[in-house]
Amino acid sequence: MPEFAIFLHPTAGAAPFEPELVQRHCRHLATLADEGRLIAAGPFSDAQDGGMIVGLFDSADAASSFAANDPFVREGVETADVRPWIMARPANGFLGQLAPAPGTHPYFLETLRLRATTRRFAAKHVGAELVRTLLEAALAAPSEFNLQPWRPIVCQGQPQLLRLRRCCFDQPQIAFAGLAVICAVDPAVFRDEVPRAVDELVGSGRWAPDERETQIAFVRSYYEDARASAVLNGAIFGHQLLLAGLSVGLQGFWLGGFDAPAMRGEFGIPERAHIAGVVGLGWPDGTETPLPRRSMEQVVGFGAWPDR
Ligand SMILES: Cc1cc2nc3c(=O)[nH]c(=O)nc-3n(C[C@H](O)[C@H](O)[C@H](O)COP(=O)(O)O)c2cc1C
Repeated sequence: MPEFAIFLHPTAGAAPFEPELVQRHCRHLATLADEGRLIAAGPFSDAQDGGMIVGLFDSADAASSFAANDPFVREGVETADVRPWIMARPANGFLGQLAPAPGTHPYFLETLRLRATTRRFAAKHVGAELVRTLLEAALAAPSEFNLQPWRPIVCQGQPQLLRLRRCCFDQPQIAFAGLAVICAVDPAVFRDEVPRAVDELVGSGRWAPDERETQIAFVRSYYEDARASAVLNGAIFGHQLLLAGLSVGLQGFWLGGFDAPAMRGEFGIPERAHIAGVVGLGWPDGTETPLPRRSMEQVVGFGAWPDR
């Protein structure tokens, strides 16, 4: 989706902004944020006033219409000027000599440090488009041999969330969440989809074509005990989903306390499947304080087991 920058210029002689008008402007911005389409917004802090909104819009018309509907513009205290914009990131080569690589988010490290399990959320819907964006990001998670064995089940809305909550020893955070995803893994993939994964690796040049049969046999033998791999790949998927949520301003939780047979029965999860856990996400209703962490000196070994 293309990016647009909306510049808001104060109208000469306009009355000072009333707090109620600023709140309406913020709610307008929140409609963009709720769909994961707000990149940045804020006022200029010099004497010229005005502000800037950067977001993702389907077209220039959609960006202009968003700008025209901004309460500041509707009330005539500001005018808007919309320009197509492209965020410089390694992937589009706009950062000079850097090779294309996954982009970096300036606040991502800070987000990781400040993350804390959140179990209460604002009663605000997580829109379908944002859910798809989050799932797409989670589906980009790494997996062994790129087999992608996950089969997540997305629950949204009270009827589905309450069904899930009953399978999780009634833990209340499930029902507060905007969405909760059962991170299930199908170990049959470790057998049935090996040719597909090997062909993709051969196609991408990682393995030579004449290695195909040997690699298929090797990968299948690797999974004689697939349980540990199911746990690992499912958890990686779930955590990528959680981090995707954090990156757009959601908060969330991991939940491992559930009744697996009940969950299988309720959601039609086959006996062979492994359930790594449940990840819940929702819009924050306050701020959680991170719990204490062990220090690096206490737990990390540099070059050897941290025997202390
Ligand atoms: C795999 C896993 C399973 C968890 N299961 C539950 C759970 O069933 N119920 C719960 O309230 N919290 C659960 N948690 C959250 C942990 O209690 C929490 O991550 C831990 O106390 C550290 O707090 P923090 O996430 O705020 O840093 C789980 C976390 C993980 C990683």
